[in-house]
Amino acid sequence: MEDRTGDVARLILDSKKIVVFVGAGLSTESGIPDFRSPGGVWDKYDPEDFYFQNFLSSESSREKYWQMATEMYDAMKDARPNAGHIAIAELEKLGKLDCLITQNIDGLHSKAGNSEEKVLELHGTAMHVACLTCQKRYERASIQERVSSGDKAPRCDSCGGLLKPATISFGQSMPERETAEAYRRSAACDLFIVIGSSLVVHPAAQMPVVAKRAGAKLVIVNRDETACDDIADIIVNGQAGQVMEAILESVRRIKDREA
Ligand code: APR
Repeated sequence: MEDRTGDVARLILDSKKIVVFVGAGLSTESGIPDFRSPGGVWDKYDPEDFYFQNFLSSESSREKYWQMATEMYDAMKDARPNAGHIAIAELEKLGKLDCLITQNIDGLHSKAGNSEEKVLELHGTAMHVACLTCQKRYERASIQERVSSGDKAPRCDSCGGLLKPATISFGQSMPERETAEAYRRSAACDLFIVIGSSLVVHPAAQMPVVAKRAGAKLVIVNRDETACDDIADIIVNGQAGQVMEAILESVRRIKDREA
């Protein structure tokens, strides 16, 4: 396979507004399973059981949800950023990151060093819990203690409302600010880089299309093919960590040569 990482590095250096868009494939090398690869979350659990309406509908479905959410949290809570996350943080340090749109809920971008104001968490975060009635926020670890000591579907200690990790489930409304901002940034960038996403879940998967329509170059870094391969300018199939490391290595080499 021809190595297009040098071409991506050239695009990065020639671009003024770069948006990076990531999915679960960026975090598999940190030990967090993705959703649609073999062995992924939707291999083990039926997504139908985890729609927001289910969560609201019965105590037993909430207990089932918390069981799945606890298993996912256990894989995330001690996870460390991998070379892919570190490369994206370096892009910000180089002043080459307009914004990072993430579908991931694992909090690894801030652990890698990206600043909070640069990161748009389209699907929320598993790192805290919110009450669906009064919006009171709780640290995730404190609620997990309650779950592991038998409180299978915890409720708010202020108003008795239902507690749910601050993630967006199928059927739950998207975070308004983050979604509007993601559309705006995607429409204004000149380079849009997708890393580790199958690009099948909307409206998140609209962002690369919005960017392309607005005239941006579209780069896709992914192990397998994605739903947007047909509109990509450059596709690099491979492991996100390794590919992103090679791209940043080229960026540094070109910068030194042209300094
Ligand atoms: N390097 C590169 N690509 C990888 C790697 C890796 N190490 N591991 C997995 N991938 C690729 C897979 O080939 C796949 O195409 O990452 C992609 C992950 O796709 P999904 O599992 O569908 O994850 P994602 O695109 O983030 O899903 C979007 O679906 O269920 C919802 O809310 C959930 O945010 C999630 C959304």
